[in-house]
Amino acid sequence: MTEEFRYLRLEAWLLQGIKAHRWREGERLPSIRALCREHDVSKATVQHALQRLEAQGLVEARPKSGHFVSRQSSPVRQPVTRARIEAPRPVTVSDLLQDIMRRSAAFDLLPQHPPGDLPPGIVALNRSIGRSLRRQSGQDFQYYDEPAGSFELRSQLALHIARRGGQGEPEAICITSGCQHALFLALMACCDRGDVVAVESPGFYGVMQIIEQLGLRVVEVPASLETGMDIDALEDVLKRWKVRACVVSPAFATPGGALMPASAKQRLLALAEIHDLAVIEDDIYADTALGVVPDPLKALDRDGRVILCSSFSKSLSRDLRLGWISGGRWHARILHLKLITQLSSSRFVQRGVAEFIADGSFSAHLRRLRIELRTRRDRLIQLLHKWPGNIRVSQPQGGLAVWVELPEGENTLSLYALALQQGVVITPGPLFSASGQFKNCLRISFAHPWDKAREEALNRLSSLLASK
Ligand SMILES: Cc1ncc(COP(=O)(O)O)c(C=O)c1O
Repeated sequence: MTEEFRYLRLEAWLLQGIKAHRWREGERLPSIRALCREHDVSKATVQHALQRLEAQGLVEARPKSGHFVSRQSSPVRQPVTRARIEAPRPVTVSDLLQDIMRRSAAFDLLPQHPPGDLPPGIVALNRSIGRSLRRQSGQDFQYYDEPAGSFELRSQLALHIARRGGQGEPEAICITSGCQHALFLALMACCDRGDVVAVESPGFYGVMQIIEQLGLRVVEVPASLETGMDIDALEDVLKRWKVRACVVSPAFATPGGALMPASAKQRLLALAEIHDLAVIEDDIYADTALGVVPDPLKALDRDGRVILCSSFSKSLSRDLRLGWISGGRWHARILHLKLITQLSSSRFVQRGVAEFIADGSFSAHLRRLRIELRTRRDRLIQLLHKWPGNIRVSQPQGGLAVWVELPEGENTLSLYALALQQGVVITPGPLFSASGQFKNCLRISFAHPWDKAREEALNRLSSLLASK
C-alpha cells in the first residue's frame, strides 16, 4: 500500500469517528503511538493524517498533550470554481500585476508594515555568507564563475534533491538567479515562438509573464485546490491541440497549496511520453511542506523530459536571488542560455549558502519554519471563518497562501481598489488566469506572522465585504 493511500485511509477513519461522535468536541484523540500500533502505520503517516485534519479546523494539536477534536467547527469548505478550457491563445498579463509587484506586496496585505527581527536561520545564513566573503581570494573578484555555478552548492543541492528520492547529481544542475529565471530558461530551452504551453488554472502569474515575453501561447488546464492539475482535463487538451510543454507544481501549487497525488504524477508523465511534451516542474514550495515532504516529479522521470526549477526564495530568503534548474535532456542548452542571460552567479554568496546547508543550518531553519508556517496557516483559516457570507478556503499542506473563494458575483478587482484606499493590498483571482477567470477569488498569504496589524487588515477586508 502506498504512503499516500495509508494517510488518506487513516484520515478518513478519524474523520468518520469525529462525525460519529466517537470522540466529542474538546476530547482527546488516541495518541500518535496508539494510532501507529492500531493501524500498523508509521509515525509520519499518522502525523500527516492529523495535520490534514488540523488544516480543516477539525483537530487541534496542543503542545505536550496530544490532538483534540476542535470545539468550533464546521469543516472548512474547499473552493469549487473550476476553470474553463479555452483554445490556446497568446497572453497579455494585466498591468495590475506590475502595480502589486511595485508595492512589493504579492505576499503581504501590509507591505508598509515594519519588519520584525531577523529569524535565527537568516542570522546564521548572513554569518555564513559573511565568512565566505572574508575568505574571498585576490583573484575571485576578477573572474566570472562557470555558468553552471559553484560545484559545492550544486553538490549540496544534489544531496537535498536525493533525500527526497529525486535524481540528484551536481553535473545535472545549473544555478540560476531565482526560480523565475529557472522557469524562463526552461521555457526558452524547450519551446519556439508560437508553441503552446499547458498551465494549471488557477496558476502562477510569473509563468504567464514568461509565456507572453517569449511569444508562446497558453492553454489553461483546470486544477483542483486539493490535488492540483486535473489530469483527465490535460488528457483532453492534449488530444485537441499540439502542446509543447506543460508547467506544473505538484508540490503545493499556486495559489492554494494543492498537493498532486503520486498516481496523478505517474499519469502526467505517461501522457507526456505519449504526446512528447517537456514537463517543467516548479518545485519552489516543496521545502515549505507542513507534513511529509513529497517526492519530486523528477524522481519518476525516465527519459530526461522533466525540467525541475526551484529556489531559496520561499524557504529561506527572497533577497538571495538564488535558484537552480535540473534540465534533463535540455541541460546543455540551459547552460548556454544561462551564460547569455546572466553570465554567472556570485561566487561568495553561493559558497556561503553551500556551507549553510552543509553544516545543518538549513535543515534546522526548515524545521523551525514549518512549525511557524503551520501555526500561521491555522490562524489565518480561523480568522477567515469569521468572514461574512459563504466563503470557501483552500487547506494547503504546504506553500505560503490560501485561496479564498467569495460568493458568486463578488469582484475582487473592485475589492482591490477599495482595500488599497485603506492601505491593504490583496492579490485578486484574475491574476492567476490567462483569461481573467476567478473574479470572485483572491489569494491571501501567511508568509508573515499574524500580528495585530495584519489581523486588523484582514478584519478591514471582511468589513469591506460586509458593507458591499
Ligand atoms: C510558484 C512560484 N514560482 C516561482 C516564483 C519565483 O521565485 P523566485 O523569487 O525564486 O524567482 C514564485 C514567486 O512568487 C512563485 O510563487
